[in-house]
Amino acid sequence: MTASRLTLALDSGALTLPEGPVAVLGPPAGFDLSALPRDRVTIVSHFAPDVARWKAAGFETTRDTPDAAAALVVLPRSKDAARALIAEATAHAPLVLVDGQKHDGVDSVLKAVKARVAPGGVISKAHGKLFWVSGGDFSDWVAPDRMVAGFVTRPGVFSADGPDKGSQALAAALPPLKGRVADLGAGWGFLAREILASEAVTRLDLIEADAVALDCARRNITDPRAGFHWADVTGFRPDQPYDTVVSNPPFHVGRAGDPGLGLAFIAAARRMLAPHGSFWMVANRHLPYEDALGRAFGTVEEVGGAPGFKVIHATRPHRLRG
Ligand SMILES: C[S@@+](CC[C@H](N)C(=O)[O-])C[C@H]1O[C@@H](n2cnc3c(N)ncnc32)[C@H](O)[C@@H]1O
Repeated sequence: MTASRLTLALDSGALTLPEGPVAVLGPPAGFDLSALPRDRVTIVSHFAPDVARWKAAGFETTRDTPDAAAALVVLPRSKDAARALIAEATAHAPLVLVDGQKHDGVDSVLKAVKARVAPGGVISKAHGKLFWVSGGDFSDWVAPDRMVAGFVTRPGVFSADGPDKGSQALAAALPPLKGRVADLGAGWGFLAREILASEAVTRLDLIEADAVALDCARRNITDPRAGFHWADVTGFRPDQPYDTVVSNPPFHVGRAGDPGLGLAFIAAARRMLAPHGSFWMVANRHLPYEDALGRAFGTVEEVGGAPGFKVIHATRPHRLRG
């Protein structure tokens, strides 16, 4: 394995890690932290599948940034979310390291940081940069809430600038639902509000991996029929099966498009449904979900859509794995 920028910085002596705890903000699962002393590292993450993987790898995890001797920010793609993490890190640690890829905008972040404080060092390698700073006031980079179409969102959550076209197509195709319903990957609650417009819905579980999005949903959906679950859909077990499952499934894992996650959502929907239950989903038209839907459900129909999107209604969930 090639050495990470962090390994290079520490091994070359360009960077000396202070004694004491190290907070690592936002590392995706698998990010190379081998250069850090594991027993001093706390992973700060709001994404449930990453938290589970870091825990399984033996790391301490938390949602809220602890005070630390040093903090490493792993840059997310959203510029505002990246700035917010730097504000968070500098509020909690005297030494802040920032690592990011070129395609995640590390160069422009470095430029904006330099306008406030001179970095202690910069390492460029493998289409990215690591730099570190001590001090500097970044308090105005804290992420503001946004109000879009009557919903609170925050930078970095899915579709932070307003309702997604696919979700809108799904909302337009949904009939009034009833009984126990789940929204898989509920985000900040756009579909949930639509679903709860039907008085015959007795319960709606919003299951979402991103705790920041789910916090927005809690503020957007104050209906007592709603339940909020910070969880990975693919491992979630409801206490009772649902009458209807609704989803606009994610199609990215980190940066990469990955239909595998949508397939796992289809399998999860099948598993969570009562035998009479039905599944409504929307997907980008080019995503190959038909075979998986055909294996999981007895009946699969395309019932609507919008340019680039298909809305699917699937019924008669199969009882067996498949
Ligand atoms: C395409 S978005 C749809 C969001 C929302 N339902 C809407 O219509 O605006 C998919 C959502 O799934 C969430 N997600 C991604 N992976 C997940 C997982 N393994 N378990 C639960 N939610 C996940 C993402 O954070 C994102 O909010």
